Amino acid sequence: MPLPVPSIILLLLVIFSTISCTHSKEARLSVFPKKLRYTFDGEKLHYKFADLGIEIFFFEQTLDHFTYTPGSYKKFRQRYAVNSKYWEGGKTNAPILAYLGAESSLDSELSVLGFLKDNAPHFKALMVYIEHRFYGETMPFGSAEETLKNAKTLGYLNAAQALADYAAILLHIKETYSAKHSPVIVIGGSYGGMLAAWFKLKYPHIALGALASSAPLLYFEDTLPKHGYFYIVTKVFKETSQKCHNKIRKSWDEIDRIAAKPNGLSILSKKFKLCNPLNDTIELKSYLSNIYAGTAQYNNNPYSVASLCEAINTSPPNTKSDLLDQIFAGVVASGGNISCYGMDQITNDARAWTWQSCSEMVMPIGYEKEDTMFQPKPFNMSSFTKNCESQYGVSPRPHWVTAYFGSQDVKLIFRRFGNNIIFSNGLLDPYSVGGVLEDISDTVIAITTRDGSHCQDIVLKSKEDPEWLVEQREKEVKIIDSWISTYQKDLNISS
Ligand SMILES: *[C@@H]1O[C@H](CO)[C@@H](O)[C@H](O)[C@H]1NC(C)=O
Ligand SMILES: *[C@@H]1O[C@H](CO)[C@@H](O)[C@H](O)[C@H]1NC(C)=O
Ligand SMILES: *[C@@H]1O[C@H](CO)[C@@H](O)[C@H](O)[C@H]1NC(C)=O
Repeated sequence: MPLPVPSIILLLLVIFSTISCTHSKEARLSVFPKKLRYTFDGEKLHYKFADLGIEIFFFEQTLDHFTYTPGSYKKFRQRYAVNSKYWEGGKTNAPILAYLGAESSLDSELSVLGFLKDNAPHFKALMVYIEHRFYGETMPFGSAEETLKNAKTLGYLNAAQALADYAAILLHIKETYSAKHSPVIVIGGSYGGMLAAWFKLKYPHIALGALASSAPLLYFEDTLPKHGYFYIVTKVFKETSQKCHNKIRKSWDEIDRIAAKPNGLSILSKKFKLCNPLNDTIELKSYLSNIYAGTAQYNNNPYSVASLCEAINTSPPNTKSDLLDQIFAGVVASGGNISCYGMDQITNDARAWTWQSCSEMVMPIGYEKEDTMFQPKPFNMSSFTKNCESQYGVSPRPHWVTAYFGSQDVKLIFRRFGNNIIFSNGLLDPYSVGGVLEDISDTVIAITTRDGSHCQDIVLKSKEDPEWLVEQREKEVKIIDSWISTYQKDLNISS
């Protein structure tokens, strides 16, 4: 569940080395914050998987599901995981909960994802987790380096291929586990939430239902939301602390003022303890924006907007601190007290997602002019296109997602055409602006929570979870129960 803003967001800065674009593109989708102090020890987890009864498999997947040219027959190893600990078995047609991986490795997703594990005992369900092609260890061309090299290989990375992969694996699992009539519920978050909803629409014969958490499927060119991502980031900061919001709003001009001095960039580099000297203020601005966006998106203790603002508002405790020292205190609060800042590595996952954003996942996220604590810089399709062309030699297809998956007139169309989908969104999540926030029919249901952040309902349960979150999850389980029981009745009648 990686649509976190790259901590969400970091990615584009380096990849789009043309800076003009960076500022407008930060937001990335993900279920959990990638940086923001979460550390992830893959090796350790691997042992834990076995302890938890999770078995890892590799499926011989077809490279290209949609053409019959010689190259399309190439196979690759796609990683997936199965946990049958609570499964009642195919004889009673016990359900399958299938997590559809998004733009990150299976390991990191397994480490935060709770919905399957927490609810499998209730459903007596088989748990399945599938890694998305081109992420984690699922590299169709061998090494990550080969696989992510250029458009020739990356061209096989798109949502339609990924959904077809999921269909093939789920059918394979049904066969292997003698579970022909076990209903499948697909679950995903963020980009993966869109995949879950789209899978339900495109493969209704395989998925009985979908839980699409924080899926901004209405954040595309043809279905642009009225307010953008950074409008919500601003709103969350403002509502948390007007003072903090004001300081952040003023800080950009202060950065520009200092940068204009002789040696200005080097003063700023020192002030923010950057690992690499600044070449342009946009690098610092993007870095800070990413922190604010990521904190709002995953607004969770202890990395919450409240704690970030607390740091900005109250520190440093010594006297003579100026505005940027206070802003830097926020950086320390979110990134920890480390020797230098801003050295976030561009991960392979981030590289692959950048390709997806440059091809079909074009979410026009920019800094709007109204009601913002950021310096305005609206999304600019032509400069975005230019960057993608120079990086990959291909032009984005911003209309393809809506043409292929169809979310214009979502209410009108899904009402009759869709069924058994839960769209869950927390209104504090900046991506919620692109979500389905109202019920569409009796079975296409929106669960919208006022205080929720990104993908909060599908991450691991904790004792500190607020009451509304506990209730939200119970509601989701109840709805899925009702789909399954209707299905089981239909199955009895038809057999
Ligand atoms: C400045 O540019 C160099 C060379 O491209 C790069 O390695 C460095 O990370 C940049 N500085 C920052 C703060 O991004
Ligand atoms: C950060 O760490 C340094 C060195 O360990 C220490 O001197 C400093 O007081 C710490 N700052 C904060 C805010 O904890
Ligand atoms: C958008 O970007 C293009 C190309 O980089 C530039 O010429 C144009 O002025 C920009 N438009 C706006 C409204 O900033």
